Amino acid sequence: MTPTIGVFDSGFGGLTVLRALIQRLPRARFAFLGDTARLPYGSKSRRTIARYAAESAQFLVRKQGAEFLVIACNTASALALDAIQVAVPDIPVLGVIEPGASAARAATRTGDVLVIATDATVQSHAYSAACRALGMRALEKACPLLVPLVEEGWTSHPITAEVIRIYLDELNAEAQAQGLTPDTLVLGCTHYPLLRPLIQSIVPPGIRVIDSAEAAAEAAALLFNGPAQLPQDLAGTPETTVHCFATDSVEKFERLGSRFLGRPVGDVELVDLGG
Ligand code: DGL
Repeated sequence: MTPTIGVFDSGFGGLTVLRALIQRLPRARFAFLGDTARLPYGSKSRRTIARYAAESAQFLVRKQGAEFLVIACNTASALALDAIQVAVPDIPVLGVIEPGASAARAATRTGDVLVIATDATVQSHAYSAACRALGMRALEKACPLLVPLVEEGWTSHPITAEVIRIYLDELNAEAQAQGLTPDTLVLGCTHYPLLRPLIQSIVPPGIRVIDSAEAAAEAAALLFNGPAQLPQDLAGTPETTVHCFATDSVEKFERLGSRFLGRPVGDVELVDLGG
């Protein structure tokens, strides 16, 4: 039987990871949960994020039979990976931070990288630690206005472009002040790939933009297609099954989700994980 891969985010952003996963594992069954009722995670405490993430992971494993989990959320990966693993023992869990840092390592020549992410991810300094472990210096910046703009669907709005410009100007000024020579920008939030065209048009030339969603999907595909990880090879004839769940408005999820996923999300089921 085809194993189920559970994919989880606080909202729609993780659909960018799912999209990249489907391209690499077209025969898998996916159960995606967007904890939209409790979004944003990025402005909450570690304790709260850990509780929400653990409950979401348990839903995917216990109720949907997920045998593998991809945490398609940088905030949950940065602050709750341990709590998730405790909540679903014996289930392999893959976060997005390490793959994002590894992709930056492969891209950078100077070894100095910029990271934009949610407040909670930046406060955790998970990217700094992951980059340091790979011999890089990382300068992180919280961009708390970007997730609500993406959730609103304002992915090419002039206001969004202006907000990005302000954040990146501040980040570049700080990099200069610290004597860094960054050549790589990591999108350290799975909502940000939706803003990639705008970001790409604003970053100074010569800066490479790294998408942690793509990097995570690449790592997942390697893991799942690797030796003895799955009972069968999931690469092959496209027969992907995707079942989406949301903890708030399924109408909004169906409307916006298709844009993020690049194909119809199908019927979305409402679930209640408590407060
Ligand atoms: N998509 C989440 C991430 O990658 C952030 C969204 C939120 O703040 O809940 O960090």
